[in-house]
Amino acid sequence: MSATAVIGLQWGDEAKGKIVDLLTDQHDVVVRYQGGNNAGHTVVFGGNTYKLSLLPVGVLRPEITSVIATGVVINPAALLGEIDQLRARNVPLGDNLLISDRAHVIFPWHMAEEAAFEAARGGNAIGTTMRGIGTCYRDKAGRTHAIRVGDLMYPDLLRSRIAEVIEQKTPVLRALNPATPTLDVAKITEDYLGYAERLRPHVIDTTAWLHKALAQNKRLLFEGAQGSLLDVDHGSYPFVTSSSSSGCGIHSGSGVPERQISKMIGVVKAYTTRVGGGPFPTELLDATGQHIRDVGREYGTVTGRPRRCGWFDGVATGYGARISGIDCLSVMLLDVLAQLDELKICTAYEIDGERTTDFPSHIQQLAKAKPVYQTLPGWKRDISGVRRLADLPKETRAYLDTLSELMQLPVWLVSIGPDREQTILC
Ligand code: IMO
Ligand code: MG
Repeated sequence: MSATAVIGLQWGDEAKGKIVDLLTDQHDVVVRYQGGNNAGHTVVFGGNTYKLSLLPVGVLRPEITSVIATGVVINPAALLGEIDQLRARNVPLGDNLLISDRAHVIFPWHMAEEAAFEAARGGNAIGTTMRGIGTCYRDKAGRTHAIRVGDLMYPDLLRSRIAEVIEQKTPVLRALNPATPTLDVAKITEDYLGYAERLRPHVIDTTAWLHKALAQNKRLLFEGAQGSLLDVDHGSYPFVTSSSSSGCGIHSGSGVPERQISKMIGVVKAYTTRVGGGPFPTELLDATGQHIRDVGREYGTVTGRPRRCGWFDGVATGYGARISGIDCLSVMLLDVLAQLDELKICTAYEIDGERTTDFPSHIQQLAKAKPVYQTLPGWKRDISGVRRLADLPKETRAYLDTLSELMQLPVWLVSIGPDREQTILC
């Protein structure tokens, strides 16, 4: 057993990219297994900042093999754009990037459908990233209109599939939104045949490849996108993404059984953020929330939207850790809280006058949840230069101890800034 997984335990944006990057040294292969270019991972490497969406964080190191596995949905134009950007910055990408022939492909109709569905929800919109993620997964589950990466490799098959899908989807799209631009069969076919030729050298059966890598004792690192509370089965449905973004997705999305994983690292922010709609019990709609947003630069990497900010939610995050089977915690962005006089941690919810530490299964209940807080003193000191746990102010250590006790998990790493060096190993 030599595989590690890095999983977000909140609503995404937990700074998972930094942890994956830190761990690449000790691994041979980095695997993305769900989501698509709705993810946004920022990595600071060699003094440069890289923003990655679809490419696994491993691509920054040529000695690592990066795998985009079966469960990912791929927008080829976005993927090739990322590859070109990296090449322009002298990050070489050759046979160290592998793409699953079973992964599903995002087409222009997926964005058009998503725009129509979101508009139809009005004030109750999910607030998606508009990348065609949910509509592509919808076609994957529905099968009739799905096109996989493997299909891109057969030009005649691809031509007829695109024509067939557009013919069937156009009347529905027109009915949803008469202003939908025409889906141009010839143009889309030509574009995707071009993408296919560029992707061809990278496309393989990644499941078989991963099984061989395991047999050769290669060390695998699974890079989760989004967070456990956005998981389509277990998250705050319907305000979730359309993939298994908790630890549950590793097995289905890569074909590697979870029992191969020896360490499941749960990544949490020292507070909570959320982008898009849906209940958020510890949300701060006041000056403290704005302070966290400003200091933490809490604006989306993918869409630029301001993130909703709030206190650490032990109920939601504890649930995220339990469904993902987490072994230890990585507490991120602790430095952001440095100037606050006091800090709050949600230890339970009160719903209809009843106290609970269970995360509600229905959003009607979650929307009613009133957080029960434990208040802790702030440390009011810059901690971004600290490198040892013992050198953190006692209030900071008390804050970490409280998180750890509440989650019943040891803290393995604390991050106090974006750079690799701004890291404390516990
Ligand atoms: P990383 O990998 C935060 C959210 C969207 C929306 C919901 C559904 O950076 O942590 P989708 O486009 O996936 O159908 O949108 O999920 N969302 C994310 N929020 N971080 C992400 O990824 C997200 N990916 C999707 O804001 O609420
Ligand atoms: Mg993000």
